Amino acid sequence: MKVSTKAESFTESVIRGMTRLATKHNAVNLAQGFPDFSCPEELKQAASRALFEDYNQYSVTWGAPVLREAIASKEKTYNKIQADPEKNVVVTCGTTEAMVASQIALLEPGDEIVIFSPHYENYAPDAVISGAKPRYFELEEENGFSIDEEKLKKTFNSKTRGLVLNTPNNPSGKVFTKKELKFLADLCCDHDVFCFTDEIYEHILYDEHEHISIGSIPSMRDRTVTISGFSKTYSVTGWRVGYTIAEEKLSDAIKKIHDFLTVGAPHPLQIACAQALALPESYYVTLRQEYQKKRDMLLSSLERIGFGCVKPFGAYYIWCDYSELDSKSDDVRFATNLVKKYGVAGVPGSSFFGKNSNKGNKKIRFTFSKKIGTLEEATLRLESAFATKVRPPATIG
Ligand SMILES: Cc1ncc(COP(=O)(O)O)c(C=O)c1O
Repeated sequence: MKVSTKAESFTESVIRGMTRLATKHNAVNLAQGFPDFSCPEELKQAASRALFEDYNQYSVTWGAPVLREAIASKEKTYNKIQADPEKNVVVTCGTTEAMVASQIALLEPGDEIVIFSPHYENYAPDAVISGAKPRYFELEEENGFSIDEEKLKKTFNSKTRGLVLNTPNNPSGKVFTKKELKFLADLCCDHDVFCFTDEIYEHILYDEHEHISIGSIPSMRDRTVTISGFSKTYSVTGWRVGYTIAEEKLSDAIKKIHDFLTVGAPHPLQIACAQALALPESYYVTLRQEYQKKRDMLLSSLERIGFGCVKPFGAYYIWCDYSELDSKSDDVRFATNLVKKYGVAGVPGSSFFGKNSNKGNKKIRFTFSKKIGTLEEATLRLESAFATKVRPPATIG
């Protein structure tokens, strides 16, 4: 029996595959971006309360009213986007479903969707599932992952119908600036293009970097689907709750696709997510401080070991070049050896690029969304793997 051309046209997730390999080889998993520490106690209590208060049946398909109210209010204050909880908010099974449901709802077969590379690996299968064609546009790594504006203008053509944006970015740690977003907004308006913006790391920012939602630019209001979720900000990747914010007509289309795909996100966890949005400002301050400590720690360890690292401004990944440590192996071989021989898992760079690009070769991504002890153990293992290359710690004076 033959499976569909769609299913054949992409591979299983490399990121999730690396997690399975890490488990098999008892490796420290710095591959997949999920915390190995607990979510806030209040959220566990809110979730168990919701179960006992009997939120155990389907919610309204596009989200429990209390959660949509809370999301709309957060959009107004944090993202500077006005959203009516009834008309503009759709609660989904994670950011993952939000992105694919939006693309299915708004794109036609044959449409092209521009994806900046390096990119989170779901975006290409999302496009294929929706019938659209991914068109990769590589950002200039040597220039802080900047956009070559003239080149991008030429990439947009009569078939371009969508742009996928991800800020703060996985894997690069780039945080798009107001100037860049304004340029992208003008381009989307000129070409009548939708922007699907994945802002799941909106609260994970370093060194005074600021998150700006492209949907807050007035000209983008009617053509942007702002997508976010609870997985990363509240350390609940297993809860599977995300959402879309879009203009009413777009939201209506997304609601229908979402309804027939999943009916709804888990009801008790939606109720607990409404509580998450009521956490005080200090929660977000601590979140950033803790992640910044971990970023600085892993970054200095990796650099000392001999990786060439990009310092992330947001999200919780470090994008590394390993060519000083191993000039021969390609990225898949390097990452596989690292798990099997040395017990540390990362994600091979090529999985963040289109099939025809070689830009991911000699790259690996590590996450620091882990306990300090886990990062220390990974560092010890990497130091022993590359013992001859490790630089002594800098001496003072
Ligand atoms: C950029 C980005 N978007 C979406 C997701 C998945 O989000 P969710 O758990 O809400 O489906 C991830 C997970 O790593 C991610 O890095």
